[in-house]
Amino acid sequence: MENIALRVEELLSKMTVREKIGQLNQPETPTEKTIEEFKALVRKGEVGSILMSVGATAGNDAQGAISNEFYNEIQRIAVEESPNGIPILFGRDVIHGHHTVFPIPLGMAASFNDELVKKSYSDIASEASAESVHWTFTPMLDLARDPRWGRIIEGTGEDPYVGARVAESVVKGLQGENLSDKGNMIACAKHYIGYGASEGGRDYHRTEITDYSLFNYYLPAFRSAVKAGVKTVMSSFNDISGQPITSSSYYLTDILRGKLGFDGFVVSDYDAVIQLKKQGVARDNADCAKMALNAGLDMDMHDFCYLDNLEKLIESGEVSEETLNESVRRILTVKMEKGLFENPYCYGGEYDKIVHLKDAEDLATESIVLLKNENNLLPLSKSANISLVGPYATEKRSLLGSWCIDGKTDGMDNLLDIMRKTCEGKLYYSCGYGLGWDSSAKNSYLSDVVVMALGESWSCTGEARAVSDISLPPEQIALIKKIKSTGKKIVGILFCGRPIAMQEISDDLDAIIYAWHPGSCGAQAVCNVLFGDVSPSGKLPVTLPKLATHIPLYYNVTSSGRPVNCYYNENPANCYVDSVPTPCYPFGFGLSYTEFKYGETKIDNDKISLDEVLNGKKIKVSVSLENIGDFDAKETVQIYLRTPVAKWMRPLRELKGYQKVSLNKGEKTEIIFEIGAEELGYYSPQGEFIVEKGIREIYVGENCLIENKKEITIC
Ligand code: NOJ
Repeated sequence: MENIALRVEELLSKMTVREKIGQLNQPETPTEKTIEEFKALVRKGEVGSILMSVGATAGNDAQGAISNEFYNEIQRIAVEESPNGIPILFGRDVIHGHHTVFPIPLGMAASFNDELVKKSYSDIASEASAESVHWTFTPMLDLARDPRWGRIIEGTGEDPYVGARVAESVVKGLQGENLSDKGNMIACAKHYIGYGASEGGRDYHRTEITDYSLFNYYLPAFRSAVKAGVKTVMSSFNDISGQPITSSSYYLTDILRGKLGFDGFVVSDYDAVIQLKKQGVARDNADCAKMALNAGLDMDMHDFCYLDNLEKLIESGEVSEETLNESVRRILTVKMEKGLFENPYCYGGEYDKIVHLKDAEDLATESIVLLKNENNLLPLSKSANISLVGPYATEKRSLLGSWCIDGKTDGMDNLLDIMRKTCEGKLYYSCGYGLGWDSSAKNSYLSDVVVMALGESWSCTGEARAVSDISLPPEQIALIKKIKSTGKKIVGILFCGRPIAMQEISDDLDAIIYAWHPGSCGAQAVCNVLFGDVSPSGKLPVTLPKLATHIPLYYNVTSSGRPVNCYYNENPANCYVDSVPTPCYPFGFGLSYTEFKYGETKIDNDKISLDEVLNGKKIKVSVSLENIGDFDAKETVQIYLRTPVAKWMRPLRELKGYQKVSLNKGEKTEIIFEIGAEELGYYSPQGEFIVEKGIREIYVGENCLIENKKEITIC
């Protein structure tokens, strides 16, 4: 590290101001038209990084293939022909897979399987780095409580603790033990900060977040990414209470570096620097560059605002050269840590695609949440006569989900393909919707059971793709009603990116499998669960509301003086006069084919002094778990805390730990959680971590609604 610091200083001392500014410049991949001009920039040392895509919402658009020859040639010019031979950092949106596509991140979160998530990101890193990508703009850590927001699919849902656990797994999976090893990639925690709180779920909209909420809800995932060693952070498009993040030294420097201890570099979001004018805080481009760099934003994505304006600003003293140097130091440090100076070219490495596909299948299988299974309709027997209907039976693209630039449907199976391979009985298939007396209804009469492949299109999810209504499309609801009228049992498979409103469909479906947008092997994953080769084990990382009008609805809500909250069924009649906004399926919920018996929660000590807590003593909370059903299965045991009296109001439940365990039928185990200061405290609005004396309620079990409370006292 010291060595890197010395090398950086030595290099910095040789660079002109213009070259230094060049390191802060991240244009996107040139087109055929602009390539010569672009190469000239590289030759002058004016390109620090390349955004390997074309267009602002890269993941939503078809992109050209990556060519190692192309990027190696650009790199050659940088290394051999630019003044100081500084290699370029290539960054691409490799969000939930490269060629092998894993489930959307919200689905991954539902797996509650940290190890598998970590392994998957290590697979992703090896695939993408074999194609010149050094740096990916993931993990996306925006806490989101509004499912209308299209980007809710890219994050981990409504809970800061889940966000923190996933952040650690993704960063460690991508960056590996040693960043410079081949096959590892630089991670980027984004979008810092508060982007998921955009008003009305409308992408890029304003946000209002108090510091109390910021420290306790929005920052934990970023804090965890920093602790896991994330090298870069992307600032977000939004403002918080009138302060654009792009130009905020409060958020970018005081909190991110001061409170969280981040020491890598910050990249802007696409054109966000120049957008400071539109946001109404900067007069002109020079103003934009000055504000952003002075706030602590190191690299400028796409808009050339730094390259075009910083030289003059430094001459005039509006930006100090030391501020510029500091940003260059951070960027060069990451390049050296990545080993770019030693290995600037793409090695075009090999990887085992079969292993990656298997990991993608396993993760997709574990992300599936079984919401309903009336009279144990599932698993289906492979010899049953089945009717498969619904628009997602032959769909492939939507199964891949939104942000997958390099994931293609070629060679991928859809649900019908896999069911054809799996079913031993008769399989009747009817395509489309059919609104009259058509084959879907007729086939339903012929079969023992109807499997309906339903969901939402990938094109309604992701960046700039908010929806105002989170219900299933009306044609699909009509189709459910039509099939229901046949009297047959229905299994609904929901391929959805976001939480959808469930009330209108949950009664009509006898079994419900929430499969998310599950990636390249999603259809196989669904069949693994549908036919009982694997017992479902996903749990909801986000609440599924009954109605869209119940948004926002999240489990870690605070209490209120008058009866207004009914997540936990308190005062249901008082929330709205026309409906009861209890969740249709709560946070942490997910059924299994087996039955798990939880023992009594035990606490090794129900009193602990504050001094002991602050000195690192922990309370042991244990529970026995027995698989008393007929299937080998996995269960995610969850521990929630509540502080009934505190200086600032605390949530009615807060997830503070989870363990996913695998138990064969008849097997029993003991789960132990250790609860210490980290779990018992919280942040004041000033960002100080505090642990208060008093009572803590402890709940251990299978979802956030468990009621078997234990108490401990901190005295
Ligand atoms: C805009 C998106 O907000 C961000 O997530 C992405 O990484 C960049 N564009 C680059 O494509």
